[in-house]
Amino acid sequence: METRVGQDLAVALQYLMQGQTVAIPTETVYGLAADANNEDAVLSIFAAKNRPTSNPLILHFADLPQALPYINEFPSVFKVLYKEFCPGPLTFIVEKSSVVSSFITGGQQTVAIRFSAHPFLQKLLVKLDRPLAAPSANLYGQVSPTNASHVYQQLNGRIPYILDGGSCEHGLESTIIGLQDNKVVIFRHGGITAEALQTALGYIPETKNKEESGILTSGMVKYHYATQTPLYLGFKPIHEKDTAVQITITNNLEIEGPHLILSNANLLEESARNLYATLHHADGLGMQKIYIQPFIDSGLGKAMNDRLFRAAAKFAK
Ligand code: TXA
Ligand code: MG
Repeated sequence: METRVGQDLAVALQYLMQGQTVAIPTETVYGLAADANNEDAVLSIFAAKNRPTSNPLILHFADLPQALPYINEFPSVFKVLYKEFCPGPLTFIVEKSSVVSSFITGGQQTVAIRFSAHPFLQKLLVKLDRPLAAPSANLYGQVSPTNASHVYQQLNGRIPYILDGGSCEHGLESTIIGLQDNKVVIFRHGGITAEALQTALGYIPETKNKEESGILTSGMVKYHYATQTPLYLGFKPIHEKDTAVQITITNNLEIEGPHLILSNANLLEESARNLYATLHHADGLGMQKIYIQPFIDSGLGKAMNDRLFRAAAKFAK
């Protein structure tokens, strides 16, 4: 199969209506989308990514009214957050209704729903008038794509079409939240920070891990978001100055040899937008190792550290 790249919404729509998978832009990362009401189409997402079918998918909707038939209830506290942050990088875990296939939810009774702000995806969803199931458009376990060429590098030959909507504005996956004992909890840190949620809620949402919650999100798998080149946290030793590439948050004059910078202005938003693209770039340099400086552990730094720790875990001795 030859993979085409283009900006033609009608072509994307046609493939999706035929039950094929299409890579789509969102404001976070590119997604690999298929008609959520077509089980064969949904299964082909897992096949294209080499993803285990036990790992559930997010349903994308244009807005809340479109989502209501697919869920049993949208709790009132989620309505507050929906008003504040959607469309945007926030995913809600809610009880699913009977129309949602268990292939989407990995057999769980809950479903993840999200309302993306990207104008291309909004238009597609309005025209389709049905949800698109979409994980990030990378091969399983690898770095997520934030532009069409990242998708092409990983999925060329595996999907018919990549809808090119430019570089992703946020560059990090959505924040995934759920409700436990009437409190909002975070299952995956992402584009909406814990601090922003706190301002809307009046309390800091707790971060839950797999053991506590009994559910699985990629934010909870130990190895994930990994480069092909071994990746380590911190600074490269001097004897590796020419064989390893260093990524720093902002300019650092002491680094010798290959060196990439995430944000000249030293802003977390800019680092987040550039993080995956910089990891893809570093991975393509043919170096023996990648070293990256971790972030402060708050705001978007929390989400970025989470990704880096999971990527580095794969290469830890
Ligand atoms: O920003 C994003 O969220 C991107 C764009 C494409 O929308 N999507 C994304 O999908 O990151 P994915 O599949 O790479 O990560 C979604 C995570 C998965 O780890 C999955 O386990 C979790 O959401 N998830 C999905 N349904 C769930 C459910 N019912 N309960 C708990 N976790 C769920
Ligand atoms: Mg992913």
